[in-house]
Amino acid sequence: AGVFTYDPGYTSTASCDSTITFIDGDKGELLHRGYPIDQLAGKSHYLEVCYLLLYGELPSPAQLEDFESRVTNHTMIHEQMHFLFRGFRRDAHPMAIMVGVVGALSAFYHDSTDISDPWQREVASIRMIAKMPTIAAMAYKYTIGQPFEYPRNNLDYASNFLRMCFAVPAEDYEVNPILSRAMDRIFTLHADHEQNASTSTVRLASSSGANPFACIAAGIACLWGPAHGGANQACLEMLREIGTPNRIPEFIARAKDKDDPFRLMGFGHRVYKNFDPRATVMKQSADEVLELLGIENNPTLQVAKELERQALADPYFAEKKLFPNVDFYSGIILEAMGFPTSMFTPIFAVSRTIGWISQWKEMIADPQLKIGRPRQLYKGETLRDYVDIEKR
Ligand code: CMC
Repeated sequence: AGVFTYDPGYTSTASCDSTITFIDGDKGELLHRGYPIDQLAGKSHYLEVCYLLLYGELPSPAQLEDFESRVTNHTMIHEQMHFLFRGFRRDAHPMAIMVGVVGALSAFYHDSTDISDPWQREVASIRMIAKMPTIAAMAYKYTIGQPFEYPRNNLDYASNFLRMCFAVPAEDYEVNPILSRAMDRIFTLHADHEQNASTSTVRLASSSGANPFACIAAGIACLWGPAHGGANQACLEMLREIGTPNRIPEFIARAKDKDDPFRLMGFGHRVYKNFDPRATVMKQSADEVLELLGIENNPTLQVAKELERQALADPYFAEKKLFPNVDFYSGIILEAMGFPTSMFTPIFAVSRTIGWISQWKEMIADPQLKIGRPRQLYKGETLRDYVDIEKR
């Protein structure tokens, strides 16, 4: 027996110590290794942020070049994995495919992933960062019945991903640099977020010493849920369901009704009770992309803008400190880029991989590492004797 603290949803329990990401929810502050997210999203780019999260410092030009070249060396996935994709139903959700395919990487790299060896941990980390865009793009191509596009290592990370998703063999494809920049920002803004549900899942799974690719697959599974990474898909689907701005008050009333489980997707956050600093940057990016594509009049996007206005003016949302979160705006950008909603969460998974990997690496290297083993508050029957079946 012992005394345990009961904290459902871990609203006030720190599960680890970490030097990677700092969040002050009241101030709306998010720092990676001390650097504010708006500076990173404005001046840096995704692979540099990956380096920062993984190694703790910004790279020198030579270190960055070396890192980028190591990542691009691993962008292909084993040709045999194509068979794995082909085993899925054509209409499978790309997240389901990703859980399976990333889990299967543990079979491909089992013998070469000894997590007690720092070098093998390093290779596993680079492999994950490099292969996730390829896997997500292949999951997409598979579900739309198009041939897989191989990675192109002369392109930057975001452009390569866009190309693998949107290029088709019959046509030339040129990546639009503004869209590529917006994609890179989406990756950067989702890179890490301290001990959120999926990261905690990766840490808990890895605390037993399990294969890291299998642990990342567990993180992808957790991210899929609509209260977490699935919110961007759920948000866009909600905007489509609302359909026209005149129906917004009806949905706002439903979100406020305690007898109705409906919530405004893309609003609210466990930690940010003031504003989500990622949302501020993402909103600017959304405006840029819509202007570039000349689709400010898209009906879904008009509903989004009007919903944002009406919700922010409503005292219910103000009192409960519910603001649009990062996924409200990322969904709008991805919709404008031409991604189907089913790809929104896979894109979040690609972005968050570096967070999962960095937190995993930090945890595995900790000499104090203990297996994660929460306790419980038991509310079941007390001791009783077994009753033979004929007497029941
Ligand atoms: N619409 C309407 N009411 C809401 C919403 C919402 N989106 N979010 C919270 N509330 C209300 C909730 O009903 C509760 O009211 P009361 O105090 O009267 O019971 C109060 O606000 C506090 O909510 P909570 O569920 O206790 O807060 P939480 O910190 O457990 O939940 C959340 C955070 C993000 C799960 C929640 O705000 C939510 O479900 N939002 C919609 C889903 C979403 O957009 N998720 C993405 C989060 S950002 C990306 C990521 O982390 O993956």
